[in-house]
Amino acid sequence: MEIGVGSGANFVHYDPAKVSKLYALEPNPGMLRLAERQRRRTSLDVEFLDLPGERIPLADGAVDTVVSTFTLCTIPGVMEAIRGIARVLKPDVRLIFFELGLSPDPPVQRWQVRLEQIYHRLFQGLSLTRDIPTLLQQGGFRIEHLEAGYIAAFPKSSSYAWWGTAILRSRSQ
Ligand SMILES: C[S@@+](CC[C@H](N)C(=O)[O-])C[C@H]1O[C@@H](n2cnc3c(N)ncnc32)[C@H](O)[C@@H]1O
Repeated sequence: MEIGVGSGANFVHYDPAKVSKLYALEPNPGMLRLAERQRRRTSLDVEFLDLPGERIPLADGAVDTVVSTFTLCTIPGVMEAIRGIARVLKPDVRLIFFELGLSPDPPVQRWQVRLEQIYHRLFQGLSLTRDIPTLLQQGGFRIEHLEAGYIAAFPKSSSYAWWGTAILRSRSQ
């Protein structure tokens, strides 16, 4: 399952030989239309779910990988979404994430706090001040692999990101 697929930019990166089915969650109808176009360029079996990530309409343990790129940093109910992801994952499988958020550098953090509301309005609810790895840990995940850094030289306030994988703590220990 991919949460907040947007325009379907990630679809080309899934290997149809390894991904038997993709649940593509996206509440924005405009994005869904773009994602449908993108789907036609692949041979993936995609099932679109036009609901927000806070209400994942799948059974417990229904999926064996979840992908989130720039969605946990956008979604309004981030903790509900993380708990929902935990619920639908099978035991000992991965959440793969790439998310923007709170820089560890205090001067950059100050700009992030100042610019938070502007970015929120301009970029579909994007938050610059979330600490995504900490939120994942609070939601029951263990961070398995983590890399972080500025993905652009400027502006630093909107380019600090983490990418990595996380596994449900209670099931993996
Ligand atoms: C910054 S875009 C990222 C899109 C895509 N994941 C990518 O990497 O190109 C954030 C996406 O989250 C979606 N989104 C916003 N609120 C959401 C929610 N409550 N549940 C799921 N997705 C949501 C937006 O519609 C948008 O498509």
